[in-house]
Amino acid sequence: MNKFSCFKCPELANCRTNIVFGKEYSNSIKIMIIGEAPGKNEDISGEPFIGKSGKLLRNELNLNGIIDYYITNIVKCRPPNNRDPTDIEINNCMAHLIDEINDKNPNLILLLGRKSAGAIYQYFGIEFTNISEERGKIKKFEHNGSTINILSTYHPASTIFNKEYRLKFKEDIAKLANITGI
Ligand code: URA
Repeated sequence: MNKFSCFKCPELANCRTNIVFGKEYSNSIKIMIIGEAPGKNEDISGEPFIGKSGKLLRNELNLNGIIDYYITNIVKCRPPNNRDPTDIEINNCMAHLIDEINDKNPNLILLLGRKSAGAIYQYFGIEFTNISEERGKIKKFEHNGSTINILSTYHPASTIFNKEYRLKFKEDIAKLANITGI
């Protein structure tokens, strides 16, 4: 897939400025962070998580000394008006995400938000109830002969006006920092 090449989701292909690919902050990554879909700033720049929720996330990662990671989204094109990506769009884009997982071979994945967590749990055959129930729990799955640990948390955007979510989000990022050695 290149900047112009995917037309599986006609609505997204018509509206997008850029397909937003994942970005690596390190050359020896162990952690992969997966969000939902690009927003307006990401669509314009072509880089994931550079807007308000990205700043919040990076700030928390930095506070916990997490500087080596690869960051991407389950859906690579911005849904109009930042609506949630549909299940069809998530399925259409899943092959790209699996390519990224195969290529980066992370041993730890952080899932941001219910859409991202629900899609990945389902893909790997893990039961998903809801994000409030699943967040903060470490799950393991086998992929291509390796064990991948996954941790899910609230999407940073949902923590902007919700203090309780913000506290849990902070807890989860601190937990991520504690398990980077596993
Ligand atoms: N929210 C996401 O889930 N991903 C981005 O890249 C930006 C905002």
